[in-house]
Amino acid sequence: DRVLVLAGGLSYERDVSLRSGQRVIDALKAVGVDAELHDPDVTLLPLLREDPPDAIVIALHGGIGEDGSLRGVLDLSGVPYVGCDARAARLAWDKPSAKAVLSEAGIPTPEWVALPHERFSELGAVAVLDRIVERLGLPLMVKPAQGGSGLGASVVRTADALPAAMVGCFAYGPTALVERYVGGVDVAVSVIDLGEGPLALPAVEIVPNSGVYDYAARYTAGVTTWHTPARLKPEVAEEVAAAALAAHQALGLRDLSRVDLIVTPEGECTVLEVNVAPGMTETSLLPMAVQAAGLDFGQVLAKLVQRAAA
Ligand code: DAL
Ligand code: MG
Repeated sequence: DRVLVLAGGLSYERDVSLRSGQRVIDALKAVGVDAELHDPDVTLLPLLREDPPDAIVIALHGGIGEDGSLRGVLDLSGVPYVGCDARAARLAWDKPSAKAVLSEAGIPTPEWVALPHERFSELGAVAVLDRIVERLGLPLMVKPAQGGSGLGASVVRTADALPAAMVGCFAYGPTALVERYVGGVDVAVSVIDLGEGPLALPAVEIVPNSGVYDYAARYTAGVTTWHTPARLKPEVAEEVAAAALAAHQALGLRDLSRVDLIVTPEGECTVLEVNVAPGMTETSLLPMAVQAAGLDFGQVLAKLVQRAAA
C-alpha cells in the first residue's frame, strides 16, 4: 500500500501536526508500508486525482483536519482515509455540540456554558461573566469551543481572573467554552478498531509537573509524568474504559479516537472531550497506550490503513 500522511496545515497546531506526521511515517515505514508526508495546499486535489494513494492518514490537528472540511473533500475524491467521516468530525470538533450529545447519551461531562464573543458586546462583559460564575461556581475551566493542545485554555480560580482568561481564549477562536472545573486525575483513553469493533486501550494517567497540562507540558520531554496504565482501581479503570467507548460511539466515530477524562477523588469519571485526530508525537498519548497494550504502533497504523483501503 502507498499511504499519504497529511500533516502540517495552517492551524495553531501546525508544529504538533508535523511531528505527528513524521512519527506516523516512521512507524509505517518500520513495518514496510510506503508512506509520504503531504502538507495540504492547492496541490492536494490534483494529486488525489492524478496519482491517488491507496489510503490517507490524517495527522492534521485543529482546523481542516478535525472540523470535517478536509474529510468532505476526501469523500469527494474517493480516496479512503483512516478515521471518522466529515459529519462526525464536525460534531466532535465543536466541544459544546459534542458535550450536548454526550450529555444526551447519559455520559457525564462537566456542566458548561458556550459563549460567543458577540455576547460580550450585547450584554456587557461584566454582566455576562457574573452570570457564568453564578451558574457554574468556581473554579472554572475556560477553553476555545474549537481547538486543541491546551492552546487558549486556562483554569480560573477567582472571579477577577476570568476576564483575562476569556481574552486569552478568544485569541484562538470566536466562541469560548466555560466549564465547571472538575478536580481529579487526568486520564486519556485511546480507542482503536482493528476490525473487531472499538477497543479501549489502557488509560494513560497524566501528571504534569507544573500541575497544568498546557502546551509546554504536552510537547516538551521531561515536564510531564505519564503512568500507563493509569493508577486506578480495577472497577474505576473499567468504568473509564466504558465511558470512553460510549463517547466514541455516541459521536459516531470510527477507527480511532482519544477520549480525555477526569477521575475525581471519589472515583467518578467525567468526559472532557473526544479527539478525532489525536496527537501521534513522541510525547502523545495514543502511541503510549498502544505500546502499553503490547501492540506495535506501526502495525496498528498499518492495520488501520489496510482496513480503510479494503
Ligand atoms: N490536539 C492534540 C493534537 C491532541 O488531541 O492530541
Ligand atoms: Mg483536544
